[in-house]
Amino acid sequence: PTVYFVDAEGGQHEAEVDVGTNVMEAATENFIDGIVGECGGVLSCATCHVYVDKAWLSKLPQASEQEEDMLDMAIDPEDNSRLSCQIEMTEELDGLVVHLPKRQF
Ligand code: FES
Repeated sequence: PTVYFVDAEGGQHEAEVDVGTNVMEAATENFIDGIVGECGGVLSCATCHVYVDKAWLSKLPQASEQEEDMLDMAIDPEDNSRLSCQIEMTEELDGLVVHLPKRQF
């Protein structure tokens, strides 16, 4: 499946990944700036924060309580904020669009 990352300046970057890859890994493996993923995906950093495109929000499984707690540490969280290491790619999510925040720290 393909993930599209839209950076804070509106630039679009595409990453083709395997099913089961999470969106944080999709970004870091494809050298997409804007997602840090400092903790490696274990919900202890919030530097993988993204804004999920509104059209895709309802297609994602709900955030866990731990993810919600950690999202409070993200910079400028919004209703559509998620931690990208917790979004696992499936065929159904092919074409997923996420927006990158201006900064992760
Ligand atoms: Fe650290 Fe997602 S990579 S919380």
